[in-house]
Amino acid sequence: MNWGQNAFQYHDNQLHCEDAPLAAIAETVGTPVYVYSQAALLERAAAFVTAVPPNTLVCYATKANGNPMLLRLLAEAGLGGDVTSGGELFLALHAGILPDKIIYSGVGKTQAEIEMALDARIRALHVESEMELGTIAAIAESRRQIARIGVRVNPNIDAQTHPYISTGLHGHKFGVNPERAMAMMQQAANHPWLEPVGIAAHIGSQITKLSPYAETAQFLIGMADELAGMGIALDYLDMGGGLGIDYNEPQLTKNIQQSTPSIGDWVTAVSEPIAKAGYNLVLEPGRSIVGPVGALITRVVYTKEQGGKQFIIADTGMNDLLRPSLYQAHHPIWPVNKASVVRHPSSVVDIVGPICETSDTLAKERPFPPTEPGDLLAILQAGAYGFAMASNYNGRLRPAEVLVNSDQFHIIRQRQTYQHLLDGAA
Ligand code: LLP
Repeated sequence: MNWGQNAFQYHDNQLHCEDAPLAAIAETVGTPVYVYSQAALLERAAAFVTAVPPNTLVCYATKANGNPMLLRLLAEAGLGGDVTSGGELFLALHAGILPDKIIYSGVGKTQAEIEMALDARIRALHVESEMELGTIAAIAESRRQIARIGVRVNPNIDAQTHPYISTGLHGHKFGVNPERAMAMMQQAANHPWLEPVGIAAHIGSQITKLSPYAETAQFLIGMADELAGMGIALDYLDMGGGLGIDYNEPQLTKNIQQSTPSIGDWVTAVSEPIAKAGYNLVLEPGRSIVGPVGALITRVVYTKEQGGKQFIIADTGMNDLLRPSLYQAHHPIWPVNKASVVRHPSSVVDIVGPICETSDTLAKERPFPPTEPGDLLAILQAGAYGFAMASNYNGRLRPAEVLVNSDQFHIIRQRQTYQHLLDGAA
């Protein structure tokens, strides 16, 4: 079974994750609940591992979904980790990701976080400013420990994605421009306690075209060749992550029109030029591994008509899944029980949450079959940046997370209780 693309499917009008009925999971665990397919996760991880050339390191971007069980499965599948805070480094190590497979990116690493990375002896810290390089150098020197570093370059390449998740243009806070990156690499090469090992670029997220990557690859190769001319030989070029997934209604239509490149196509596009130029590759995919693997299951609390509009009010909202509110992102939403869809025409509705914000909308003006309080809905493509961006806003509890393996399911994170709202409080 090819779960990697289609982990959520109807059998007899009942939506399943693999072979487990979502209604049974909701009944047992309650709602809202994030449900993940183990088979889909492993298939997608394997798609990376088998497609990359030898000596490539695939560092899963843990920010996309840091659930400890999912991280452990990805570690066992051979993936490394791209971390962006002390907390993510802690989670990556806890999951058993080998330190040599961990890279640390981010514009604001504190001294304590740098010390933590050096303690763990991770593969490299990816530096994003001269000031940060100075801090790492001072810490490395005082510890008398070599710090392996890469410099994150801002290539000024337009990723052609949502402005909030585009990161590779000069006006963005990420990385440094190429001239400064070259100077920083030289400075590192001349420093007794720094070892420059790579250069990195991450131009953005939810990218659906390959051309910005071709441009980025040429850009990094050009820089690496120049560095080689200066006597600085690199271990790797890091092309970042950013491969988009299909947030349209992928499985309802029979003739699936793939609007995003496949994992294999992306890996080929990013790895071929780099391998040809004789460099090793690092990748940092997040969304493309976990996005399609997860759905957020919610129960309808009420329906309501107002101002000529129909609202479906769900028991989940922007506190659990921020993407629609923050980026006007479209997530497919399907009824868990499809029986009514077959018999009744759809009407146009807004599917909203219980949060006291007008932007707390999961779907706007969406054709949807008749729905009643108590019905279950599945918000698809929610495995990436779903739970990871969840909050306790409005005093709401973070949802449970469940992992499905065939027809079995296990809670891999308990729903919070009201006691959690008092955590750490005086
Ligand atoms: N590497 C770096 C340095 C990153 O900053 C990111 C994501 C990744 C890798 C992974 O990118 P991916 O393969 O997942 O696109 N919250 C937003 C996405 C923010 C992405 C931040 N950086 C969303 O929900 O769309």
